Amino acid sequence: MAIRKIVKYGDPVLRRRCQPVKSIDREVRKLIGDMFETMYDAPGVGLAANQVGVSLALAVIDIQAEGRQSPIVLINPRITELSGQLKEEEGCLSIPGFLAPIKRFASAKVSALNEKGLPVVITGEGLLARALQHETDHLNGKLYVDHLSFVKRVRMFSLIKRSARSERWNA
Ligand code: NI
Repeated sequence: MAIRKIVKYGDPVLRRRCQPVKSIDREVRKLIGDMFETMYDAPGVGLAANQVGVSLALAVIDIQAEGRQSPIVLINPRITELSGQLKEEEGCLSIPGFLAPIKRFASAKVSALNEKGLPVVITGEGLLARALQHETDHLNGKLYVDHLSFVKRVRMFSLIKRSARSERWNA
């Protein structure tokens, strides 16, 4: 396994809809391992394949509830149910140094394949629900800042652009 470079805001790969995974071959298994390592190293609670520059519909999540690892692999995920509402600070490894309160559904159900190619259904509340929505958004070329109001989004984008010229952003 290896830590991969996380693609930052401004890279067009983050805005492209990811292609479905057709077969879970060696390369995809290696990608999954690398994505977990990259996510734990960051550290973060979720990472989408396009965040490491690979335009495939694949994401990893681990909210580490009670400090324990509970890795989730989502291949070709599809949200099947959403309910409730929740507004909490959200951030993204591709937009380092920023957080913003984002309205999300409080509960989410996602159908996907796991790393063995078996169908799984993941149901999440709270932080896990948020991570499920955030990562499936990534795979559709969407970022959490897109959920902000127009005025807030414009302000944030100008701050992000300024930050993107700094060294830390490109590290
Ligand atoms: Ni993100």
